[in-house]
Amino acid sequence: MDKLARRLNIALGGAAGFLSSEGRRMYFPSEGILGQGAEAKGCELNATIGMAFEEDSSPLVMECFGKGVRLDRRCFLYAGSYGLPKLREAWREMEVKKNPSLKGVRFSNPVVTNALTHGLRVVAELFAGPSDELLLPDLFWDNYELIFREAVGCRVRKFNTFRRGAFDTAALSAALAAGSSGKKILILNFPNNPTGYSATLAEVPRIVAAVKKAAASGKKVVVVLDDAYFGLVYEKGVHGESLFAEFAGLHENVLAVKLDGTTKEDYVWGLRVGFVSFAFKGATDAQLKALEAKAAGCVRSGISNVSSIGQHLALAAYSDPGYAAQKREKYNVLRGRYAEVRRILSRHPEYASRFVPMPFNSGYFMCVRPVGVDAEKVRRRLIEAYSTGTIVLSGLLRISFSTVPRRRLAGLFANVAAAIDDLRA
Ligand SMILES: Cc1ncc(COP(=O)(O)O)c(C=O)c1O
Repeated sequence: MDKLARRLNIALGGAAGFLSSEGRRMYFPSEGILGQGAEAKGCELNATIGMAFEEDSSPLVMECFGKGVRLDRRCFLYAGSYGLPKLREAWREMEVKKNPSLKGVRFSNPVVTNALTHGLRVVAELFAGPSDELLLPDLFWDNYELIFREAVGCRVRKFNTFRRGAFDTAALSAALAAGSSGKKILILNFPNNPTGYSATLAEVPRIVAAVKKAAASGKKVVVVLDDAYFGLVYEKGVHGESLFAEFAGLHENVLAVKLDGTTKEDYVWGLRVGFVSFAFKGATDAQLKALEAKAAGCVRSGISNVSSIGQHLALAAYSDPGYAAQKREKYNVLRGRYAEVRRILSRHPEYASRFVPMPFNSGYFMCVRPVGVDAEKVRRRLIEAYSTGTIVLSGLLRISFSTVPRRRLAGLFANVAAAIDDLRA
């Protein structure tokens, strides 16, 4: 049991006897991203959070979403547990447009969730239990553990993320082969939080082959594609599409689940509109409808339905003539910052003795591993002496370039190097 859960149970004393086993395991992750973000709140340079800000530090938001705030009265009606039919239809069409390999692939209609976190919870409730195993690369978004391990009691097995600068497919294969019977739930999150890494065109077939081999050996594998940061790929040779199409028809023992939504790719973090879609080899329409109904049942039993206002705003934005251009413009802001980070690293070879950048090519973030000093100590030093906020996850310092104006990125990396020097002195 997590130490934070234990502390809460002690605080509850005899009242802890009311808790279910899920209740006993549950805690608020006050020491993770949220707690560290709060500690950095007053910092002059804040590279902690998974949102995005403009060069003038105002929220990076597309005009087409703000425009729709004057919506008609229908937005106050219930949207239904499956979500607004028109939005589901529009999103499905967009999924295929954004992922040409999905053309002709049979997959369910997306069911609307209260953004991706809720989609993950729906997946956990439907597919993960105490006899199953969640497989995660060891550099992962910490909420996965709260959802799968604490909330539904699934076991967690981590595998090494990178080997020689590339995704460690051998470690993935070993994790798929390890353990006894029971289902495996594999989360693949590209672009990744925290590393900002997406699998390359060369790596994808190896990842797919690893899953296929496990499936052929008789293992049931649920492959969850967490596409939160979809589309934010900045390098050639990187797989820019969702891996959903790769797994949709792979093997009878593989269920592909796609989680995506407005939050990160459309820059509307508080809107809370996401989607869950399903596919598996040989699936009939009736089977896909049954999975949609299962997901809608989870929505119904948890939150009844997702905010109708949020769904109407998304629908209005997607039919706005300015949507595509505005999305491109915001993408270019982030791509410009990514390029600047690359420039800074190549202009400062002396940083290599202070920190090692992890492979990155996409998304909102990049990570560095401080050399010879503890990442948590660096994080604290950065706040105290340099008014600079970062996040520590899995022993790495995560730098969110989506939140820092381009002109301030050089100063941010200089601060990281200086904080490491201070700790070594
Ligand atoms: C990898 C990943 N998946 C899912 C989410 C959840 O996003 P949402 O705000 O849509 O629930 C996040 C948010 O930080 C994330 O980083």
